[in-house]
Formats: sequence, structure tokens, C-alpha cells
Amino acid sequence: MAQIRDQWTSRAGFILAAVGSAIGLGNIWRYPYTVYEHGGGAFLIPYFVALLTAGIPLLLLEYAMGHKNRGSAPLAYHKLSKKWEWLGWWQAVVAFLISSYYVIILAWAMSYTWYSVGTQWGQDTEKFFLDQYLGVAQTNGFWDFGGLQLSVVIPLVIIWAFIYFVMRQQAHKGIERLTRIVMPVLLVLMVIITLRGVTLEGATTGLNALLTPDFGALMDPNVWVAAYGQVFFSLSVGFATMITYASYLKKTDDLANSGLICALANSGFEFMAALGVFGALGFLAVQSGVDVQEVVGGGIGLAFIVFPKIISQLPWLNSLFGVIFFGTLVIAGLTSIVSLVEPVVSAVRDKLGLARTTAVNWICGISFLISILYATKGGINYLDLVDHFVNTYGLLFGTILMTLVTAWFTRKVGDLQNHINEVSDVHIGNWWIFCVKYMTPVMLIIITGVHIWEEWL
Ligand code: PHE
Repeated sequence: MAQIRDQWTSRAGFILAAVGSAIGLGNIWRYPYTVYEHGGGAFLIPYFVALLTAGIPLLLLEYAMGHKNRGSAPLAYHKLSKKWEWLGWWQAVVAFLISSYYVIILAWAMSYTWYSVGTQWGQDTEKFFLDQYLGVAQTNGFWDFGGLQLSVVIPLVIIWAFIYFVMRQQAHKGIERLTRIVMPVLLVLMVIITLRGVTLEGATTGLNALLTPDFGALMDPNVWVAAYGQVFFSLSVGFATMITYASYLKKTDDLANSGLICALANSGFEFMAALGVFGALGFLAVQSGVDVQEVVGGGIGLAFIVFPKIISQLPWLNSLFGVIFFGTLVIAGLTSIVSLVEPVVSAVRDKLGLARTTAVNWICGISFLISILYATKGGINYLDLVDHFVNTYGLLFGTILMTLVTAWFTRKVGDLQNHINEVSDVHIGNWWIFCVKYMTPVMLIIITGVHIWEEWL
């Protein structure tokens, strides 16, 4: 059955949806900790190298693929060459797998928005978190599911119902409308969080810890792996998302400009988040009379163990700030999760000619069932495992092949450059070809090699 392709109402609608996809948990919860762990201020060097030589070039590559070939990832690759359709499916599956656990973190954030009222987590925020969600202490190992945890299942069902409601509607009615409404709100909330964070007593201690460069870190290959990983995840590059979103643009819509806006907004947002988060961490460190180092937790811990502690100790309006912080995570995450589900829905529709609702029923249904597995007591073991494999190997393998296929195997990178330049105000030069053809694949292959070496050998 032939179908009419979804279309954004305007280029602004597309940019908002793309920025909504990019700005998510990766910016507020992953970025600050990643910077801190990998050399503080010095991390900005690999970060910008990764952004300029890989993040932005591949973002434009995805835009061009989707826009020129007018298809979701598998169809867009198919139009380059039949042989490579599977790569589009690979990227869509990566997005699908991420969606099934990304939603869990959203569910946690949602219940924490509620727990913020009256700071229900009490004194021992770590025990509270473990009891509520991880149930690690109670499991008898990897295979013990030990029953569902209602504290996750209830918000999970609410979030899935919301995603389902948004996704059932065409992109311009569902996703675009959602981002139009929430992105301005998100910006205001983030400004409030940042201002509050940097004006807290002790904030400078935190900011110093964040920004004091450790240049020695630049020699550590893991710092470079982290920078590329962060840039891809945060910009939503390598997950079929941007190919799909660009395929909903009008034929003549500008690409280069939109890409630059998206990258700038995303990086600006995460930098702001890092300032706010570290200001608050400095506050906690000073209150507790310890080094910032001692209060910084890993990804999950930072938001759900350390932040509740900070919120409890705020001098005024702490419930309100708790609601603002966790509410911001929820809002930022919602506009990203739809962009993880959409590439799969779109791929299945392009392939099978299904109506949107049929595809959405299936994809949301299956992803919901998988996410329920993570909501069992032992489920967290899977979350960690899947996250690691999908986010490193699934992503790096896909992005390396994406550059090789477009630049070397099908030699379409020149056509794609012409396509971008035909529709865009800003023309992209040969630096772009250089990045896609040499710089990005070489860097990514080295990084993946080092990673495999360190992990397995
Ligand atoms: N970019 C999103 C974030 O920062 C996550 C995401 C990755 C969304 C890939 C879509 C595709 O949280």
C-alpha cells in the first residue's frame, strides 16, 4: 500500500524536533559526570574535536541521507545500494534497544519528581534508591527476577501511555507538537536550575572541580572514546533518528543551517547543565566538609542518589527545586524517547507499507514488554549489560560502517554533499568530505580497537 510520507509543518518544526531529540538525559545526567571523570576542563578538547570532526559531519550526513533518499534508515541505505539496507536496520535496532531502557530511567525520574514533594527519600538516599529500584541486595543473582517493582511499573505504564498517545499521531501532530510545547519550557527550567546551582554557597568549589583541566588525561585513549561516545549519544547521531527526521522535511528545506543550530543548541544546553550540576555538587561538598570528588557519583547515582541529598539540604523551597530538577529530566527525556521509537516505526512502515497506528501498536507493545523486564528486581543487571554493548559496540560499529558505506563502498558522499549544498544557505566544503572519508572512520576504528583491546585482551 502506497502511503504519504509524514511531513513537518515547517523547518522550525523539524529543528525543534531534532533539538528535542538531542537534548535529553545525555545532557543533564550523563555529560556533567563524563566531563568530570575525563580530565575536567581538558575534556573540552577531545569533546570539541569529536564534535567538529565527527558529530556535526555525521549529523549532516544523516540529514542528507534521509532528505535526499526520503526514507527511514533501511530505505535510505537501500537507495544507496541494496546490499546495505541491513545497516539501516542495525541502527534502527540499536535505537529500539536503547528506547527499552531509556524509558526506565525516565520512569525513575518521574517517581522522583513525586518523591521530591516533602523529600520523601529521607536521610539515606542511597538505601532509598536501592530499595525502590535496584533491589540488588534481595536478588539471588543474575536470573532472579524476584517480581515486579511497582514503584517502576506504575510510572513506566504512564510514560508508555504518553509515548503511545504521541506516536499514534502523524509526526507533525504528535512529535512536532510535543516539542513545540515543551522545548521552551525546558529552556526556562534549565536556566532556573543553572542559576540556582551556580549561586549556591560553595558553588565555586564545584565549578573548579569541573573546569580545572587535567591535561594528562588527553593521553588516555579512554578519554577520547568517552568524548566520541558522548557526542554521538548526545547529538542522537548513529541511531537512525536524524535520517528519519530529515526524511519528513520538505524537498527544498535547508539542511546545513539546521544541523549547526541543532549542534549548537545541544552543546550549549549540556554545558549549562554541567555548570548547574557542579555548582550544586560544590554546595554539597562544602556542606558535608568533603572534597567534590567524594560526592560525585556515577551516571545513575548522580541523579538519583546525590541529587536527592542536595535537594534535601537546600536552604529554601527544596521540594520545589526537586520537582523542577526531576521534572526537567522527564521533559527532556520524553522528547528524546519518541525520537528513539520513531526510526523503528518509520522503518517498519517503509518496509511493510503499514498504517502508522499498526506499526506503533507493535513497536510500542514490544518495547513496553522488554522494558518491563528491566523493571523486575534483577532487571538492572540486564540494563547495564545491554547499555554497555549497545552503546559502545552497536553504536561504534554502525557509525564506522556508515562512513565507509557512504564514502568508500558506494562512493555517494559527493552526491550527498551536492544535495546539501543545493538546498542550504551555508555551503559545506571539502572539509566535510575529508571528515566523512578519512578523519571520522580512522579515529573511530582506532578508538574501537583500543576499546576492544582493553576490554577483552
Ligand atoms: N540524545 C539523547 C540524549 O541526549 C538520546 C538519544 C540518542 C536520542 C539517540 C535519540 C537517539 O539523551
